[in-house]
Amino acid sequence: MQRPLPLVLSNARLATMADPVSGPGAILIEDGLVTWVGAQADLPTAHARAKQRDMQGRLITPAFVDCHTHLVHGGHRAREFEMRLEGASYEELARAGGGIMSTVTATRAASEDQLLTTALPRLDALLAEGVSCMEVKSGYGLDHDTELTMLRVARRLASLRPVRIRTSFLGAHAVPKGVNADSYIDEICIPALRAAHAQGLVDAVDGFCENIAFTPAQIARVLDVAQSLGLPVKLHAEQLSHMGGTALAAQFGALSADHVEYATEADARALAAAGTVAVLLPGAFYAIRETQMPPIKAFRAHGVPMALATDCNPGSSPLTSLLLAMNMACTLFRLTPDEALRGVTTHAARALGLRDTGAIAPGLRADLAVWNVETPAELAYRIGFNPLYQRIFGGQPC
Ligand code: NIG
Ligand code: FE
Repeated sequence: MQRPLPLVLSNARLATMADPVSGPGAILIEDGLVTWVGAQADLPTAHARAKQRDMQGRLITPAFVDCHTHLVHGGHRAREFEMRLEGASYEELARAGGGIMSTVTATRAASEDQLLTTALPRLDALLAEGVSCMEVKSGYGLDHDTELTMLRVARRLASLRPVRIRTSFLGAHAVPKGVNADSYIDEICIPALRAAHAQGLVDAVDGFCENIAFTPAQIARVLDVAQSLGLPVKLHAEQLSHMGGTALAAQFGALSADHVEYATEADARALAAAGTVAVLLPGAFYAIRETQMPPIKAFRAHGVPMALATDCNPGSSPLTSLLLAMNMACTLFRLTPDEALRGVTTHAARALGLRDTGAIAPGLRADLAVWNVETPAELAYRIGFNPLYQRIFGGQPC
């Protein structure tokens, strides 16, 4: 195959998330990687003869990373949305057998191809906003076969679209009806994890540590197995109550602790010491009308990296827009627009354990988003408007 010619994106505004570049900037792309970035005037003359594309002053950021999604699932929960509007809480619906379990029923009933076909429009919505990499979880199967099917579908998405997919095994998402939680963990969840890992379907292991799901002790058994398999871990922690999931995540050196509305200052300290990212999910906060704010000031004070994600799922966050998640994070959680941008780029990549994306710097993948805006803050500021001009995936405009 012929190697693509080196490409220079010139006359751009750059938000690199690494070394700042002031004034018109340029990016040199060779073999799918950024090999030089800096002020236009400093572009080495050796590269001045490469193919140039004038960006006409547009803003280029790293492509977005959506580091927490339940993109693959059967059915929808519009009826539960109506019931919540009539006064039922997310937790009540879950306890009454709705919530996650109703999506489990719909996911088990769907074929592998149906799961793929219904996930694609959601994926396309995210790509249209400059996403180049996303995480997809299992967790709506809660049986051996359906958990593996969900992960296979997630892998297949990357063969149908120019996107990188990282999978997380979330067998410990809810306790199936009529099953003892401990038996479920030992007899279904852990064997399914081992089988999925043996088939190369798992990049990380997740769990839902919550009073409507699993205790820290039960989750720890799954994380022990993950560690023995050499898999990184992450957790849904402190979403509806304080259960100790954040401390558990830190104890296991997790990539991330996600939701974390009920996390404490001590939790923030533990995350910082472990180098664990706090993933904020303002879509879920908004949709279930949560009022407990994640401890943003403590995260800042202790230097906990904060990522942002859609949590795209049919119940608590039917959201397919990272731009809207950024806006919500600023308005609801008081993040700065800069923090929001870092949250969907550098810190999101870190929440997935990826070091080759999430910033614009020599040696990193040329996964970029070109925007029709003047300043980075405009990305978080607009509501329901998509200013993407072009997405560049591995050096290829698409
Ligand atoms: O991240 N918290 C647990 N899991 C999902 C919700 C899934 C659902 O409601 O279907 C979440 O919010
Ligand atoms: Fe989630």
